[in-house]
This record gives sequence, structure tokens and C-alpha cells, in this order.
Amino acid sequence: MTTFKKTEKIQKLDSKKKRTASSRQWLLRQLNDPYVARARKDGYRSRAAYKLIEINDKYKFIKKGCRILDLGAAPGGWCQVAKAIVGQNGLVIGVDLQDIIPITGVTLLKGDFNDETVRHMIMDTFADEKADVILSDMAASACGMTDVDHIRLMLLLESVYHFSFHLLRPGGSFIAKVLRGGTEKDLLAQLKQSFAKVTHFKPPSSRQESSELYVIAQGFRPEKGVNHSITSTITSDIL
Ligand SMILES: C[S@@+](CC[C@H](N)C(=O)[O-])C[C@H]1O[C@@H](n2cnc3c(N)ncnc32)[C@H](O)[C@@H]1O
Repeated sequence: MTTFKKTEKIQKLDSKKKRTASSRQWLLRQLNDPYVARARKDGYRSRAAYKLIEINDKYKFIKKGCRILDLGAAPGGWCQVAKAIVGQNGLVIGVDLQDIIPITGVTLLKGDFNDETVRHMIMDTFADEKADVILSDMAASACGMTDVDHIRLMLLLESVYHFSFHLLRPGGSFIAKVLRGGTEKDLLAQLKQSFAKVTHFKPPSSRQESSELYVIAQGFRPEKGVNHSITSTITSDIL
């Protein structure tokens, strides 16, 4: 398990530079975050890498040789972690709205998961293979209204859930970031219909003040689900 002590030396900002209060707060948090420092040292592109390490340490769904779909992959920390575990014979496909600097041995697709063509691109990339694990660290762009951000993300995840019926192998796992806000229980209830074991986990590296937590669904039972179209358009435009 990866645990870190708080940095003892508190970093301060150059008081002469003009910054907005929120960018000042963000910078201070980054400067004094032990996971940010550790990511730089370990060569990870994001502190988020440690969340996947911690979740996988506990639930052990990524193994050598696995085929992984990583949704919301930029800048690539989770892809780096997944690739290191699956090794040469495994497969990691990362998808994001944003460009990702290439990662050796990882296939990267650029696009919006809400877009049907992107879903077909993912299916084509897996060819006739099924995924062992679908990961989603997607965070729909925040509008600042907590309830709306929460519902947008839940709709996005509902579409990932429908998509899993096309790509995830029986027995496979689905791991997704959710934001607390009330309706995460609905997703949990849906997942419980078609996964043998469903639970929530907040890894130690997830900031305490953040409303994020992760849903861990294991033991996929596709026969328990009905009517899951790849074209199911769940879109954040409705909000
Ligand atoms: C918190 S970051 C992911 C960090 C990543 N797991 C890592 O380890 O580096 C969330 C990402 O989700 C992506 N995202 C949000 N909505 C998306 C969508 N509809 N389709 C694809 N990517 C999306 C964002 O562009 C952003 O890069």
C-alpha cells in the first residue's frame, strides 16, 4: 500500500505575482501535496496514478495480461500504472477528449465518450477481444454547480455502464469515479443487477475535501442486463 507523510516544509508562493484567489489556492495545494511530489519523482504524469495503485492494491482487478479500457485517460497516469501491471501481453486503450502524449505500449484514442463514433472506434480497437476491466476517471467539465456536475457525471457513467454490455467479458470489472450528491446510489443499484460484487471506496490519495469516490463493480454477469444499446445517447447537453 502506498502511503505518504505530509511534507514538513510548507511551500509559499511569490507574493509579487498577481493571481486570482482560486489559482493561488490551487498552486499552494499542488506545491504542498506529497502525492504531486511523489508522482514527479516516480515519473507518473498525474497524482491520480496513486488512486489506481491504491484501488488495485485493495481489489486486485488488474493483473498481468489483462485487457483494459481507460476512459478519461489524460494526462495518462492510470494508463502508465495499468500498462506496468498488464505487461507486454496485455492491452491498454486510453480515451480522452484531450491529446495525450504517447505512452509506450498504450493505444490512445482522442474523442468524447458521448460520441457514438468514439464508442465504435473503441470496439474496433478491441477487435474481437473483450475487455477484462473498464476504468473511468472521467470528470465531466465542472460548471460550478455541485448538483449539476454530479448529475452530468452520473449520466456519463450510465452510458459507460450500457457500453460495458458490448465490451466487458463475463466476470470482468468496472471501476468508476463518482461524485457524492445523492444519485450515486441509483448507479450502484443498476450495477448490482449485473455485477456479483459492488462497493464504494475512497483511496487515501483522494483528497479528503473532494466529493469523489470510486465505485468498484466486480464479477460482470451480462445475462442479467437487458436492452443496452451502444447508441444509447446519454448527453450532458440536456443539463
Ligand atoms: C481527472 S482527469 C483523468 C486523470 C487520469 N486518470 C490520469 O491518471 O492521468 C479526467 C479526464 O476525463 C476527461 N473526460 C471528461 N469527459 C470526457 C468524455 N466525455 N469523454 C472522454 N474524456 C472525458 C477529461 O478530458 C479529463 O482529462
